[in-house]
Amino acid sequence: MTADGKISAIDPKAPRHSDAADKAHVKYQISLADLILIGSGTIRAEGKMSTIQDPEVLAARSVRGQSPQPIICVVSRSLDLSADLPFFQQDIERWIFTTRTGLERSPDASALQKLANVVELGDTDINWDHAYTLMSEKGINKIVALGGGSLSAALIQAGRIDDWWLTIWPVIYGGHNVPTPVEGEGYLPAQAPQLRLIETRQIESELFLHYRTLK
Ligand SMILES: NC(=O)c1ccc[n+]([C@@H]2O[C@H](COP(=O)([O-])OP(=O)(O)OC[C@H]3O[C@@H](n4cnc5c(N)ncnc54)[C@H](OP(=O)(O)O)[C@@H]3O)[C@@H](O)[C@H]2O)c1
Repeated sequence: MTADGKISAIDPKAPRHSDAADKAHVKYQISLADLILIGSGTIRAEGKMSTIQDPEVLAARSVRGQSPQPIICVVSRSLDLSADLPFFQQDIERWIFTTRTGLERSPDASALQKLANVVELGDTDINWDHAYTLMSEKGINKIVALGGGSLSAALIQAGRIDDWWLTIWPVIYGGHNVPTPVEGEGYLPAQAPQLRLIETRQIESELFLHYRTLK
């Protein structure tokens, strides 16, 4: 996020110029994952996912018994996703977590079912207990959630975040309606999830913070 707490600019499709250290950090986190969770708002804004190309990282995944690329799982209540997104042409295993309502109402449901493993996990909202049971049954243990703010809010609410990485970019984006790392309904202080800071790193003007959720 920016120094003023934003995760995108007023134009969500505008490219973010994260620097080499942050890109390497995100790539490293992604390289550990069996599955990446990503909100549909992010895939609509960004169009596609970056894939792992580094031969050393690919070799490390192979040694750990992981597929070359993690599964990319888009979370969408409405299934309002265009089958024309470049994401659906990428050479990766794609999943979509959605709802019964989404499957019934989305005009693109059958096209999307040909392009991804579309999993219904609730009537109008995702049942995260079912989602995590399903992933565990498939041997998926390391899950990295890349945001955006609405998905992160849902996962925090469901008690599914163990470790929380925050990079603070030395820039200010501003904007009333620009998403922040955690959206959703918010918490009163007495109910707010508590974190413990376990690691910090500064690279030039950028700050990398690693928190663990207190259970
Ligand atoms: N700076 C960063 O590191 C970073 C990281 C990620 C994203 N971003 C930016 O953040 C922006 C998107 O953030 P956002 O908060 O607007 O969107 P988001 O979290 O990416 O996606 C929101 C959508 O995800 C689905 N969703 C979320 N929680 C759900 C739940 N519990 N059950 C079912 N579906 C659920 C809904 O999909 P439907 O609407 O399809 O029903 C919801 O509208 C983009 O501009 C992106 O570029 C920045």
